[in-house]
Amino acid sequence: MPYARITGTGSYLPENVVTNKDLEKMVDTTDQWIRERTGIAQRHIARDDETTVSLAEQASRRAAEAAGIDLQDIDLIVFATSTPDKIFPASACILQARLGIHGCPAFDIQAVCSGFVYALSVVDKFIRTGSSKKALVVGAEVFSRIVNWEDRGTCVLFGDGAGAVIVEADEETGILSTHIHSDGQYEELLHVPCGISSNYEQVKAGGAFIEMKGNEVFKVAVNTLGKIVDETLEANQMQKSDINWLVPHQANLRIILATAKKLNMSMDQVVVTVDKHGNTSAASIPLALDAAVRDGRIKRNEVLLLEAFGGGFTWGSALLRY
Ligand code: ACO
Repeated sequence: MPYARITGTGSYLPENVVTNKDLEKMVDTTDQWIRERTGIAQRHIARDDETTVSLAEQASRRAAEAAGIDLQDIDLIVFATSTPDKIFPASACILQARLGIHGCPAFDIQAVCSGFVYALSVVDKFIRTGSSKKALVVGAEVFSRIVNWEDRGTCVLFGDGAGAVIVEADEETGILSTHIHSDGQYEELLHVPCGISSNYEQVKAGGAFIEMKGNEVFKVAVNTLGKIVDETLEANQMQKSDINWLVPHQANLRIILATAKKLNMSMDQVVVTVDKHGNTSAASIPLALDAAVRDGRIKRNEVLLLEAFGGGFTWGSALLRY
């Protein structure tokens, strides 16, 4: 049975950067508060004419180029997002058309910040069972469109961006295991409390915004991520010291530090982009991965642990040999 191996990474960020100082002019906050509580210094925010799929298209082309494959060889597209371009069709299908690909399955996954790990987990199964040989996996978001720019508790946290990877069947190595979970009882700690079939009036009134009980989310996130680290290591009978790189979801530097501590890892082995990108939800892990691959930190055959936690609650991990 073949492994599913990441053979190329790509990412794209909107040019427009909003700093903490910029936010000081919009809400009652300070650069110091944001840095101390979250580690964030700036975030990229899409222009009105940029969409989740337009960012994803750039990231996908870069990933395919890095993998050295022809876009026409892609036989599966899985797109993680909570901020799709349209209610339907899926962003994966819109992306597929923009890339000039026809006929292969293309669908979206909605697991908020854990979306990329969920997508990778699904693609791993497709490749292992022989249903796909070259898959495009995308995490892309324009969270700035569902942020209430008057709510200081949330607007300082999020950013926009896209990351993509090409995953190919490989006889030697690749994804070692994936672990995904969810628990819907926490729905209201982190949600957009309206949609098409519920509270639609709120959507029509222009109030479809993120609501989060940050403090409670924080506690569950730290605890849950600690447990998924144990689950992943046990499943692979590996030691903490076997992991070369932690590539975590970038929600908050304090959550990342807690996970690194749990793994006895030096911060030199942890990829951190939250300072520059903020929380880009499903895009954060592939954005971080691409940054560390392109600057030469992550090298072939190193062992990476990807982990994420997000709305749902959802959480998950992927252990892989790059
Ligand atoms: N500037 C200044 N003060 C602020 C700001 C701000 N931007 N935001 C909140 N405050 C105030 C609060 O009003 C509160 O004031 P009070 O004590 O007078 O009531 C005080 O700061 C402390 O607020 P807390 O919410 O307790 O602050 P906390 O230390 O928990 O940090 C944060 C908040 C950064 C949101 C943190 O809780 C967090 O990161 N939570 C986890 C977020 C997360 O991981 N989400 C999951 C992924 S996201 C996804 O799935 C979409």
